[in-house]
Amino acid sequence: MSVQEKSERLDKLLSNLGYGARKDVAHWIRAGWITVEGERATSPAQKVRASTVRLENEPLDQPNGLTIIYHKPLGAVCSRKEQGGLIYDDFPARWLDRKPPFSPVGRLDKDTSGLLIVTDDGQLNHCLTSPKKHISKTYHVTLAEPLQGAEVDIFAAGTLLLENDDRPCLPAELIIHSPTEASLTLHEGRYHQVRRMFVAAGNHVTALQRSHIGVMSLAQTGLQPGDFQITTAEALMQMIQPAAS
Ligand code: URA
Repeated sequence: MSVQEKSERLDKLLSNLGYGARKDVAHWIRAGWITVEGERATSPAQKVRASTVRLENEPLDQPNGLTIIYHKPLGAVCSRKEQGGLIYDDFPARWLDRKPPFSPVGRLDKDTSGLLIVTDDGQLNHCLTSPKKHISKTYHVTLAEPLQGAEVDIFAAGTLLLENDDRPCLPAELIIHSPTEASLTLHEGRYHQVRRMFVAAGNHVTALQRSHIGVMSLAQTGLQPGDFQITTAEALMQMIQPAAS
């Protein structure tokens, strides 16, 4: 998952990091704003290693890939296109122009808060979402109606069929904290899964927060809603699945 630093064209590097169009880079070179290994850059076509480049004396922003741990706030949408508050509003605007693009690993609903990984690393994305990789997601659930107790067995059975799905949910673990509060750990990620599971069990979710990805907890990150922390795929996997890394 780690990216070996390669040499690439200076203009392509800066434009893929969202700094500007290639013609802007040519202008910045002429203006003397870019250095490579401490020397003034000479050409947009110059082959460079990102770590050696400075733009206005500053190192480049996350040149070897972007992975963040984010506390998604309530009301933010995991989309680039929709109107209204988007998760992307919480990140530097330049990141939106990065190539490859960065996107959330699985989505949380608008009305769900909590831990979300956002990355441009396709391999990491696959690793975190494929049920075969066994990375659980745990949700703190608040319910409209008191739990009956039978939900623990219903969710653990691996036979619960949700409306419009053609195969049952994988077994999931429910821990009851109070009559209307529980934690549910899933080993797959389906559309609105937690809400739909409780509907299938005759209840209704009134508040939902993703509290854990693997063993990494939202509490341990210390992130407030809307805040994020830059990390690497390797460091993230250490937090999520320490024994296997
Ligand atoms: N399940 C849901 O119902 N919503 C989410 O956002 C995540 C899991």
